[in-house]
Amino acid sequence: MPTNSVFGNVERKTLQKKALAQIEELPSLSDVVREFLALTSRDYFTAADFETVIRKDSALTARLLKVANSSFYAGTRSIKTIRESVVLIGMDNMKNMVYAVSSSGLLSHKFKSYKFPDRGYWMHSMGVAIACRALAREAKTKVLGPEEAFVAGLLHDVGKLILDKILINEEGVREISLEEEAETAGLDHADLARHIFRKWKIPEILIEAVRFHHNPYVGGRAKAGAVLINLANNILKEWGLGTKNVPDLTIEIESSDHIQDIRALTIPREKFTSILWELRQDLMEIDKLYQAQREEVEE
Ligand SMILES: [Fe+2]
Ligand SMILES: [Fe+2]
Repeated sequence: MPTNSVFGNVERKTLQKKALAQIEELPSLSDVVREFLALTSRDYFTAADFETVIRKDSALTARLLKVANSSFYAGTRSIKTIRESVVLIGMDNMKNMVYAVSSSGLLSHKFKSYKFPDRGYWMHSMGVAIACRALAREAKTKVLGPEEAFVAGLLHDVGKLILDKILINEEGVREISLEEEAETAGLDHADLARHIFRKWKIPEILIEAVRFHHNPYVGGRAKAGAVLINLANNILKEWGLGTKNVPDLTIEIESSDHIQDIRALTIPREKFTSILWELRQDLMEIDKLYQAQREEVEE
């Protein structure tokens, strides 16, 4: 880790500027994704509404149909429209597919500095997103809607994609702490996410959730959106999904270990246990999505 003597303020400022300039290089979220988030955040919408928004982006539509028609979903049956895919694959699975496919440029980043197992960033981001959605559906403290929570979870570590290029050194991939990020580049990955989200015109409420995801009780008051991401992050870490070479979803998660977060979100304790059971099923599904998407990319 660099020391202050050789790595002073001037270097830090230079790296910080470099990091902020790099935001332009990130593949941005398309307008369709923002519109899609607005649609799916509504109390009621139909498969036809879903199709109308997606079809505004013909490249995305074509890619989604390819994934939906992969051997992992359609099998031998042929799916011709987005509406048909929603009906056959299920609304939540289709929503996951839209986000995975439309942000594949971000999620498939090959890390040079941060240590992630093979396809770890993809699994971690999608896993935290799905866990955030599941927790937000049951939380009585309402800050983010389930779909907003999903997007916040999906993009919570996006700052690492930029710092990955800034913090590079000869040691190769390694664990990098928030402190090291801030010490070296003058801002950590959560701070950086704030700048990225502003550039992408992501709603302010998501920005706050992501900015404080490692620090959700700053100033003694819980920031519920950030608590949501923090809790999802910690659950996934216990199971090792995206962080260990061999994740283990059978590991029992004790609600008592997360009681502060559960209380801040007002999730009944017995509900928490049932969320975890459903979450395990949903997380097993994303493996299929990963494979199907890879098939689409490789074709
Ligand atoms: Fe993080
Ligand atoms: Fe994370």
